[in-house]
Amino acid sequence: MKKILGSAIAMVLFLFGFGYAETVTYNGKIQAIMAAKCVACHGNNAPTLEDFKKDKERFKQMMKGPRMDTYENLIIFVNGKDAGALMRRLDDGKSKADGRPGNMYQYLGSTEDERQNNLSVFKKWVGSWNLKKRAELTEEELNKITPL
Ligand code: HEC
Repeated sequence: MKKILGSAIAMVLFLFGFGYAETVTYNGKIQAIMAAKCVACHGNNAPTLEDFKKDKERFKQMMKGPRMDTYENLIIFVNGKDAGALMRRLDDGKSKADGRPGNMYQYLGSTEDERQNNLSVFKKWVGSWNLKKRAELTEEELNKITPL
């Protein structure tokens, strides 16, 4: 009996531990990847999305993309006003007909292994990896995108 109870407890702990390890949050992992790989061009000295849109070409020349320095500023591109943009830019292209990766995929890492690892972290965080544009996403699809 004790043995059964013991293994039942071990099983529950294992499942909890597993579930916990699988949950990717902004504070847990995404912020660190953004800091290491993205904020040089998307940090707090980069323009807001509104300002960026007004003067895209100039900002591009300055190697500045829209600001993604906080959770609120980042999810604009995940399930906000510009939903799907993060997924389209970071996608590796493997599930697309033309096989072309998004133009920010290259920044996910300096080796293909690192890029793939970081991509899978982003995929877990986003919840439902959808490459559609904001206007094409149904309410149901949008609700499945759940960055915590
Ligand atoms: C060397 C600078 C640089 C780095 C590093 C960089 N980006 Fe960008 N990013 C840009 C520039 C410039 C643009 C705007 C030009 C364009 O649309 O390609 C942009 C555009 C984007 C967009 C599209 C925004 C929109 O809706 O117009 C997303 C999403 C994005 N970047 C995400 C990322 C992520 C995530 C990372 C880190 C893995 C990253 N970028 C790393 C320079 C950079």
